[in-house]
Amino acid sequence: MEVRHYLQFKDFSREEYEYLIGRTRWIKDVFKRYVPHQPLRDRTLAMVFEKQSTRTRVSFEAGMRQLGGSVITLMTHDTQMGRGEPIEDVARVITRMVDIVMIRTFEQAIIEKFSAHSRVPVINGLTNEYHPCQILGDIYTYVEHRGSIKGKTVAWIGDSNNVCNTWLQAAEVFDFNVHVSTPPGYEIEPERAGLYGTSHYEEFKDPLQAARGADLITTDVWTSMGDEAQATKRKRDFEAWRVDREMMKAAKKDALFMHCLPAHRGEEVAASVIDGPQSVVWDEAENRLHTQKALMEYLLLGRVKTQGDLWST
Ligand code: CP
Ligand code: NVA
Repeated sequence: MEVRHYLQFKDFSREEYEYLIGRTRWIKDVFKRYVPHQPLRDRTLAMVFEKQSTRTRVSFEAGMRQLGGSVITLMTHDTQMGRGEPIEDVARVITRMVDIVMIRTFEQAIIEKFSAHSRVPVINGLTNEYHPCQILGDIYTYVEHRGSIKGKTVAWIGDSNNVCNTWLQAAEVFDFNVHVSTPPGYEIEPERAGLYGTSHYEEFKDPLQAARGADLITTDVWTSMGDEAQATKRKRDFEAWRVDREMMKAAKKDALFMHCLPAHRGEEVAASVIDGPQSVVWDEAENRLHTQKALMEYLLLGRVKTQGDLWST
C-alpha cells in the first residue's frame, strides 16, 4: 500500500476532509464521555522539533497516548541532527523503528526530503511555508460553531506567513474566499503558497476594507519563528494591521475571531478582541487534539466506519 503523507493542506481532497471532520466529531464526543478509543495500541509516533512548540507538542502527544500508542520526542539540539546528520539518513533510520512521524522544521524542502526517504506517514507540524494541522483544526472549529464554510469570507489581517498560505490552500479545497490585507512588502507569494489560481482570494491595501462583511477574522504573530532578526522593523510595519474592535465591527455581526496562538495582545490583536465574545481561540486550540487524532488514525488505519452523522462542510 502506498504511504500517505500530510505535508500541505492540498494533499487531501474535500471528500477526505469531510470524512475527517465527521470522524473528529465522533472522536471528540467519545473523549468527552471518557469512553476509551484505542485503535493505535502498539503504534509509536516520533515527533521531531526543529522549532519550539506548546500546542502542537501537547496535542500530538496527548492524542497518540489517548489512541493507545506511545510517543518519542526529538529536539534537534539533543540528537545527531544537531551535529549535522543528513535529514534523509534520519528518515531512513527512525522510520524503520516507529509507525508515524510528525515534524516541525524550517523549509518545506526539508520535510519533503524526509518524507521521500520515509517508510511511514509523515505529518507537517509547521514549516516556514505551511501549517496544515492548524487549519484542519480551524476549519473544524468554524464548522462546529457556524456550519458549512463553503462560500463564506475569511479575512486574513497581517503577515502572509505559513498560516496564511494554508488558509489560502484551504479556500481552494473548501470553496470559500479569503480577503487578505498585509502591509506593503509582505504580500502573498502565490507560488510559495502553493495555490492553483487566484480565484479564491482578494488582496486589500486597507485592513478595514478586508474585514468588511467577513464571516471570520483571523490573524497571527507579526514575527514568525525564524524571522526574529526582523522583529523591530516588523513591529513598525504592521502597526496598522492590529485586529481591534473597530475591525471586528466592520465584519458580519456574528463573525468569529481566530488566532492559531501564541498571541501578543496589543500587537496583532487587541486584548478586547482575543478575550472578547467573538473569539473562539480556546476551542481552536483544543480542536487541534481531536482533529489530529482523526488524522493519525486515518493515516495509519485508513477509513474506518464512522459512527454518527457527517457534517456538511
Ligand atoms: N499554534 C501552534 O502550532 O502552536 P505551537 O507553536 O505552540 O505548537
Ligand atoms: N506563524 C507562526 C505560527 C506559530 C504557531 C510561526 O511560524 O512562528
